[in-house]
Amino acid sequence: METVREIGALRDAVAAFRADGQLVALVPTMGALHAGHVALVEAARRPGTKVVASIFVNPRQFGPNEDLARYPRREQADLRMLEAAGCDLVWLPGVETMYPDGFASTVSVQGVSETFDGASRPGHFDGVATVVTKLFNQVRPDTAYFGEKDFQQLAVIRRMVTDLDMGIEITGVPTQREDDGLAMSSRNIYLDEEERGKATALPRALGVAARSIGRGDDAAAALEDARATLIAAGFTIDYVALADAETLSDDPAPDRPRRLLAAARMGATRLIDNIAIEDS
Ligand code: PAF
Repeated sequence: METVREIGALRDAVAAFRADGQLVALVPTMGALHAGHVALVEAARRPGTKVVASIFVNPRQFGPNEDLARYPRREQADLRMLEAAGCDLVWLPGVETMYPDGFASTVSVQGVSETFDGASRPGHFDGVATVVTKLFNQVRPDTAYFGEKDFQQLAVIRRMVTDLDMGIEITGVPTQREDDGLAMSSRNIYLDEEERGKATALPRALGVAARSIGRGDDAAAALEDARATLIAAGFTIDYVALADAETLSDDPAPDRPRRLLAAARMGATRLIDNIAIEDS
């Protein structure tokens, strides 16, 4: 596995893959890798395809009071995981490469980025769309892989790729979970032991509500029950809501694919999770 830190070296390495007739798949990450990221690399591995992973903790997607400074950084462990997962090339740009002096452009996706996390974290999805556009332009992949754990992010990126004719196939990979159901996240390490125990209420409450809504029960009542369960478990709720799975509208039509989304704080840690509504 090769690692590159300069854009020229990246372009040379990708050109060598292309010269060899290979397709290029990109797995963008912010490092602090876990089994969820490994699943992205494994999904990206195909005969005739080289997998490029990027590691860049993107300051533009963190709000002023968010966890940029303490976001876990562990490059050596990340590289070992990527190599073991079968990644071919790792792109490790510095902040000065991504945002040199004078940088003045923002990619902003309306609508789908305005609800839920977009409302709670102003500027977050502009930061994501901008850095993902840069990563796409730097690597110029054929395909790119993103986790469904960040469901709204995936929807924003799909909209952006369509709107801007980027011509990159986007694949969403199902959320990887711990044995007790908690969605894997680089931020789970912020939880102390007691908080970690209580955090399992989040996937449980979402599962109960999603099954109830899928059976045709009253959605508002199911959401209210989920909120009450989370509050009883010690969560402070940001949102627990039903969304259109494509547009992320918070008023989804019942005949459209729907997703149950939640964000809630356990102590100082903000956790998100989501689950499909499957009619039963
Ligand atoms: O999902 C993430 O880790 C980040 O939001 C991404 C897509 C790598 C952009 O910084």
